[in-house]
Amino acid sequence: MVMSKLNQLYKEKKMKLAVIGGDGTGPEVVAEALKSLEALSKRFDFELAYDELDYNGTRYLQTQQLLSDDELEALKTYDAILLGAIGHTDVKPGILEKDILLKMRFGLDQYINLRPIKLYDSVDSPLKHANSATLDYVVVRENTGGLYTGVGSFEAKGTGDEVAIQQMIYTRQQVERCIRFAFDYALSRHQNDVWRGLSEADKEAGYVAQLTLCGKTNVLTYVFDLWERVFEEVAKDYPTVKTNYVHVDAVCIYMVDDPGRFDVIVTSNMFGDIITDLGAITQGGLGVAPGANINPEGVSMFEPIGGTAPDFTGKNQINPMAAIGAVQLLLSHLGYLDAASCLENAIKVVIKKMDSQLAAKMGFSTTEIGDLVVQEIMT
Ligand code: IPM
Ligand code: MN
Repeated sequence: MVMSKLNQLYKEKKMKLAVIGGDGTGPEVVAEALKSLEALSKRFDFELAYDELDYNGTRYLQTQQLLSDDELEALKTYDAILLGAIGHTDVKPGILEKDILLKMRFGLDQYINLRPIKLYDSVDSPLKHANSATLDYVVVRENTGGLYTGVGSFEAKGTGDEVAIQQMIYTRQQVERCIRFAFDYALSRHQNDVWRGLSEADKEAGYVAQLTLCGKTNVLTYVFDLWERVFEEVAKDYPTVKTNYVHVDAVCIYMVDDPGRFDVIVTSNMFGDIITDLGAITQGGLGVAPGANINPEGVSMFEPIGGTAPDFTGKNQINPMAAIGAVQLLLSHLGYLDAASCLENAIKVVIKKMDSQLAAKMGFSTTEIGDLVVQEIMT
């Protein structure tokens, strides 16, 4: 059912996107991402149409409008959404994030946040020992529940006896659909190979992939008890996926010290948020890290995971590679696998010529990097 909708879209060779540049450097990086997508649509012969939508902080400051229910409904008519970044220095933190970005994630039920952590050759990682063979895993972050549900309260606000409560809430259904996705994803990642981190004995035992549950069962004894039970239950349906459990704090150690031990990590919303920023810096910074907010049955949204970078706005200095990487995720999600792998190769080639979060540091501008990627796509 899920695949058939996407296959159908792919067969028609037509894609219609909602493009939300957002705030700060968002529009700049999205413009470069669109350039690559346009080049790919020519090279791989698919029709590309998109509407650029101004759901952002600037509009909010002018009109007090965030993302209305009608606008949210209208987003459901697109094949996918490409997003730059949301957040404005003149708007108190929390407003735009909650009522635009999170409203889209929740309202479109994008229950998976897929964040590949992959080091390309020649990208400078702060991890001295890491290379493209040892740093290549994916975090499957649950994207609709946990501490992000916004459920909480103040008691005796403003007094010396004040209590603030923020609840971590998970239903079994939320946990189960996320964990099932992660198992399926781990298998699909190794359709044509076997995860190289497996021991010979594991391979002989028939394992092809590994899935790590990242939690905190030693302290969060309700929520992660649920996660662990569901994980163990679902694992029975995936006998070729080797499973293990690691507490989130230890995950952070290994992400720095021994990232090669990870293949796919599945985790809650808040932990996923935090560990993927750590992951991003190990892969060369937020300038190169893309993410996908996926509703396997609905409309998904693709974005660079870095923020709005207000200090660099309008300077043509920000690295657009993460947004271009988001296009690669979008293409593979919609089934345009040839175009996706062409784009990945182009990214690899161009990344060899540059590095760092700031394009300008290496003598390139934002638009020049976009041009280089297009050039690579067309050759
Ligand atoms: C991210 C961001 C968001 C999150 C913020 C902006 C709400 O940090 O996409 O990781 O916490 O999910
Ligand atoms: Mn984050």
